[in-house]
Amino acid sequence: MKKAIKVAVTGAAGNIGYSMVFRIAKGDLFGADQPVELNLIDIAPAMDKLEGVKMELDDCAFPLLEKIVCTSDLAEGFKDVNWAILVGSMPRKAGMERSDLLKINGGIFTGQGKAIEQYAAKDVRIFVVGNPCNTNCWIAKQSAPSIPADRWFAMTMLDQHRATYQLANKTGVLSRDVKNVVIWGNHSSTQYPDAYNATINGKPAVEVVNDKDWLENDFIPTVQKRGAAVIAARGASSAASAANAAIDTVYALSTPTPKGEWFSVGVCSNGEYGTPKGIITSLPVRTEDGKTWHVVEGLDINEFSRAKIDATNKELLDESNSAKEILGL
Ligand code: NAD
Ligand code: LMR
Repeated sequence: MKKAIKVAVTGAAGNIGYSMVFRIAKGDLFGADQPVELNLIDIAPAMDKLEGVKMELDDCAFPLLEKIVCTSDLAEGFKDVNWAILVGSMPRKAGMERSDLLKINGGIFTGQGKAIEQYAAKDVRIFVVGNPCNTNCWIAKQSAPSIPADRWFAMTMLDQHRATYQLANKTGVLSRDVKNVVIWGNHSSTQYPDAYNATINGKPAVEVVNDKDWLENDFIPTVQKRGAAVIAARGASSAASAANAAIDTVYALSTPTPKGEWFSVGVCSNGEYGTPKGIITSLPVRTEDGKTWHVVEGLDINEFSRAKIDATNKELLDESNSAKEILGL
């Protein structure tokens, strides 16, 4: 048997956590021959609920699951972990100022960043799901300066999946026939789901859709506002689809990407496609060997896309500048 990969999940007693940890234990992140250990982290008042999640994990008798730790202590929770999946956070509530949200999440992600730097394994990779995920990731990264920039990720795979389904549904094909939709920028309503670089059954998606008005005025806002639409319908934010996208992201970063394809994930910008260096922004990415990744360069950016990409990246720059000011980072 291989040595277990140790995965920490924060917010593990929450809705996304409940949809995610069983799939991690089953082997969906690293394959059916890779054992895992789970460090489940939540706040102290959630420990009873978390113990219930552990009881259910025990009752699955997963062959790959070697150990479960339930804790609210960050030193214990991040000890020697190879992956830290940060789900727990304080999303914006009605009436809450942006600065209030940044202060609360600043405290959470500063503390978690510091603990990860101090206690995690030397090869740790950090993946942020909790909103606002790009900026939370940026805050944690500022607090862990010794961890290389290429180990930090924020989730936009759910947006990619949403965009893929919208294109498939519009053109009467299956989701698997749609490839290479790119999500640019922030996981927010300014994100830019780019169909111009996508294909449907190998043909340019724009040609197959053949409806510019739908692409620019229906498809884009539908994807941008899908999270809010699910909240309105369910009375709670997307959980199973978010957990599925989180699993797909870690899998994509741990497995060679199929030839000619790419996927979207928030990464630390090195100035690619004119994005501001240092922000955590969603870009098209490939993994060659299951360990190292790179941004796919040379995609065609037309004038329409340029304006959308610039707008969402400006929002990210503003968010990180506010965080810098409010948190003194
Ligand atoms: P939830 O309220 O069901 O669960 C959140 C859990 O986090 C709770 O158990 C809570 O106790 C815990 N928590 C809060 N503060 C914590 C801290 N400091 N340390 C550890 N745990 C903490 O929420 P959910 O539905 O699981 O969603 C979690 C987050 O994911 C939210 O911020 C949500 O907006 C975000 N989200 C992101 C995406 C995306 O695509 N990036 C999609 C859906 C949801
Ligand atoms: C989503 O995209 O479903 C979530 O990020 C929405 C939210 O605000 O929790």
